[in-house]
Amino acid sequence: MKPVRKAIIPAAGLGTRFLPATKALAKEMLPIVDTPAIEFIVREAMAAGIEDIVVVDGKSKRSIEDYFDSNPELEDNLRKKDKQKLLKLVEDTTDINMYFIRQSHPNGLGDAVLTAKDFIGDEPFVVLLGDDLMQDKEPLTKQLIDRYGETGESTLAVMKVPHNQVSKYGVIDPATKVKEDGLYRVKNFVEKPQPDDAPSDLAIIGRYLLTPEIFEELENTKPDKGGEIQLTDAIDSLNNRQHVYAHEFKGDRYDIGSKIGWLETNIKFGLEHPEIKDQLRAYIKELAPKL
Ligand code: G1P
Repeated sequence: MKPVRKAIIPAAGLGTRFLPATKALAKEMLPIVDTPAIEFIVREAMAAGIEDIVVVDGKSKRSIEDYFDSNPELEDNLRKKDKQKLLKLVEDTTDINMYFIRQSHPNGLGDAVLTAKDFIGDEPFVVLLGDDLMQDKEPLTKQLIDRYGETGESTLAVMKVPHNQVSKYGVIDPATKVKEDGLYRVKNFVEKPQPDDAPSDLAIIGRYLLTPEIFEELENTKPDKGGEIQLTDAIDSLNNRQHVYAHEFKGDRYDIGSKIGWLETNIKFGLEHPEIKDQLRAYIKELAPKL
């Protein structure tokens, strides 16, 4: 079995939910307290042993490339002022094997993944979406890689969501529970079903471990009604050829793809941040009775 060494982070979306900020700023760079969202995603991949990460980006996304590049002027300045802690923070982000592909005409998640076909080659790989931050004892990407060690086949992460929310997600139709701790064989994968048509409440949550055969499926996947190539549709076809498994995530998930989710996550992480937690708690206490 080939090891899982490479990751794709699709980041070509227009970020319309965060306009006007995203007119000039990549939504992936919006900070959670002081750290751009994409860094959490990159750290999760690295903590799972991923060696090479490709970001599929697009217009207004230069800030992502700059963030993972060195900044000699800033580094010199911090060195001269002996700000070692800050210097380390700045330097840490350049020590990663990051690659960038620019997608000129974004055409859905499936299309973004297909863009990285040559970078991946003939190896299993992971896809991490930037709208979901995950916390658990073990990084979710590591959990998927361990599952791959058991199944040798594509495995993606799912989580129970409220029934009225299923239309925001890809949803699985589970066939059998292969392991009691939450590994499913899957009958079908359905992209954004209406609640009445949804086969379950188990939603795909933005972490996928895929075998390279997915690229052939993506090449043959027709655009949906909105003209986008859906990764979920290609996974559904792949499932007819090789089993695709679903691993149920039991940790904490933060949906930072919406304004309210992003704000909630900032508050949650802010209340744990050593520099500001006390002040933030005091502020919330002061504010709460007036609400
Ligand atoms: C994408 C996928 C969907 C998945 C979701 C997870 O949708 O198409 O299957 O459930 O990510 O966040 P998007 O949120 O990009 O519309």
